[in-house]
Amino acid sequence: MPSLLVDEIGLLVTNEPELAELERAALVVEDGRVAWAGPAAAAPDADERVGVGGRCVIPGFVDSHAHLVFAGDRSEEFAARSSGRSYEAGGIRTTVAATRAADDAQLKANVARLVAEMQSQGTTTVEIKSGYGLTVEDERRSLAVAQEFTDETTFLGAHVVAPEFGDNPDDYVALVAGAMLDACAAHARWIDVFCERGAFDEEQSRAVLVAGLARGLAARVHANQLGPGPGVRLACELGAASADHCTHLDDGDVSALADSGTVATLLPGAEFSTRSPYPDARRLLDAGVTVALATDCNPGSSYTTSMPFCIALAVREMGMTPAEALWSATMGGARALRRDDVGRLGPGARADFAVLDAPSYVHLAYRPGVFLVEGTWKDGVKLASLGRRSPTS
Ligand code: NIG
Ligand code: FE
Repeated sequence: MPSLLVDEIGLLVTNEPELAELERAALVVEDGRVAWAGPAAAAPDADERVGVGGRCVIPGFVDSHAHLVFAGDRSEEFAARSSGRSYEAGGIRTTVAATRAADDAQLKANVARLVAEMQSQGTTTVEIKSGYGLTVEDERRSLAVAQEFTDETTFLGAHVVAPEFGDNPDDYVALVAGAMLDACAAHARWIDVFCERGAFDEEQSRAVLVAGLARGLAARVHANQLGPGPGVRLACELGAASADHCTHLDDGDVSALADSGTVATLLPGAEFSTRSPYPDARRLLDAGVTVALATDCNPGSSYTTSMPFCIALAVREMGMTPAEALWSATMGGARALRRDDVGRLGPGARADFAVLDAPSYVHLAYRPGVFLVEGTWKDGVKLASLGRRSPTS
């Protein structure tokens, strides 16, 4: 593959070492990786050259939390919240019924549509969870579909107790930690559990996570979304890569996160859609916690694929600066997925980046709701067929 000089970068964010910003910069890409990044005036020769006209270049977004394998929509549930109905974990079962009724081709087409939306908005790495099948076969096939789009697949059989097990949640936990895990482990890198009132309690969550760890999966946890609870501390205790949501935290939860290697992944699209108070990112950052931002794209609590939208919410509602929000949406996501090849644009990193139709990444929050991604590049190649998709396409 010929080497490529990406030139005329007005502002380059590399995340190396932390938020390194460089004006009048350039990148050299070789074999899908960044070979060199620095001042344009000092750029080495390359086989080919492309100019980006003074635009801002940032690492591609790393969306480390998304539930893309599903069918149907829950717009009526969303509309009902505008009349005062509150969000409950049990709404997940509506999507379970639609997902079970869909064939693999329908599920795959829906994931493809959502991944294309993500890419058009600058996302280059996405984690995809199962969790709307809740039978051995429906969870297995959900993960098989997810695997066609990403290596970051997560088994979330413990999303909510399957409807057939209503009176016997412990029997469902035994299925998830037994036969369902057996069928799903080969298709997943991660195991996740929704540790929350209305979903799984501490003991049940621990049983699922420990079983997954024993099968070689790594852990991540939906924790403290709807109310205070044991999820964050369980995630830290078990060495989970990430505790996700972190909306209702006490001081002990914050200290546990600060003292552990567990990233706090904040999902402001969920608070937006469920009309809930936003997590306090400032408190976490000031305590030294590593913070990631992700979309939580799912049909119930956060039906957005847009990392720029999440950045805007984080800056406006959660006490983050634009620089902190960008770092959390790129390097923070990479940390939450324990990846060191994405989320940055230094030598050796994947050449995954977004070219913004803006002089600075600050515009991601400063111009909310405006489509600012001129192009998304993955492994050194500009992705085709992107564009300003209509909301219903
Ligand atoms: O992350 N919290 C659990 N899972 C999703 C919600 C899924 C749904 O409502 O369908 C979430 O918000
Ligand atoms: Fe989620």
